[in-house]
Amino acid sequence: MGKTALVTGAAAGIGRACALRLARDGMAIGVLDLNLEGCERVVAEIKAAGGKAIALKASIADRAQVTAAVTRLREAFGPVTVLVNNAGITGFAAFEDLTDEVWDRMMTVNLKGPFIVTQVVLADMKAAKWGRIVNLSSSSAQTGALNMAHYASSKGAIIALTRSLARELGPLGITCNNIPPGSVMGTEMSQASVAAGLTAIPEDKLIGAIPVRRVGEPDDIAGACSWLASEGAGYVTGQTIGVNGGRVVS
Ligand SMILES: NC(=O)c1ccc[n+]([C@@H]2O[C@H](COP(=O)([O-])OP(=O)(O)OC[C@H]3O[C@@H](n4cnc5c(N)ncnc54)[C@H](O)[C@@H]3O)[C@@H](O)[C@H]2O)c1
Repeated sequence: MGKTALVTGAAAGIGRACALRLARDGMAIGVLDLNLEGCERVVAEIKAAGGKAIALKASIADRAQVTAAVTRLREAFGPVTVLVNNAGITGFAAFEDLTDEVWDRMMTVNLKGPFIVTQVVLADMKAAKWGRIVNLSSSSAQTGALNMAHYASSKGAIIALTRSLARELGPLGITCNNIPPGSVMGTEMSQASVAAGLTAIPEDKLIGAIPVRRVGEPDDIAGACSWLASEGAGYVTGQTIGVNGGRVVS
């Protein structure tokens, strides 16, 4: 039987691309997001290409919702042994203007969310003595980002979580790695960054800083995700895999 993967934040953007790619790799996909209509569109795309998928509406920050969604996925396609922690939110504010509420919401979604989802899925990976966890962090965690101290901090913690889980879960046959995107254009999140004036526009100014001379696309991240989720990446864990066109980040 093929493997079953859960991709969070998969209704759009990078998560959608990862879901489509893992489905092409032969996995059955749980397409999880707050946006159920978006999930259903992605499920339809996967099915139209001959794959298997189910739409799961849940907030990654709500343990009961995540548990219910993972139970449905397991019932539909069997144990979940591949997890892509992609869902996240962004936000822009000067450090001095950040409120407790804004800080807490960022940490609740971007850090506690992956903590919850990973804990809920882990039993299946342990039982299978095999698992792949791919976390989406951000290049902002490596470089810092203006007016994004809360976002960059939440993503820096994802890198630390990745390294810690690699140590704890490696002996159980489970790998955990992270991809820190920068400038993956055409997603809602990247559009928010453009609107906030944090992405160099016109685009050729941005492109000039990228050795391969183009901005990133969701499929670029999906390609790395596919490899990290594969059998062949079993000796790779705890790593931060830059998929950024060669841009210098630190
Ligand atoms: N696009 C970039 O350049 C870029 C750069 C750095 C990091 N990232 C990271 O990559 C990931 C995907 O980014 P994207 O650009 O595709 O973002 P996006 O905003 O286009 O998509 C994120 C998805 O996550 C979902 N989501 C948000 N909160 C959720 C919650 N509580 N529960 C379930 N789903 C939720 C949204 O509904 C949305 O569909 C994010 O973690 C982001 O921080 C992206």
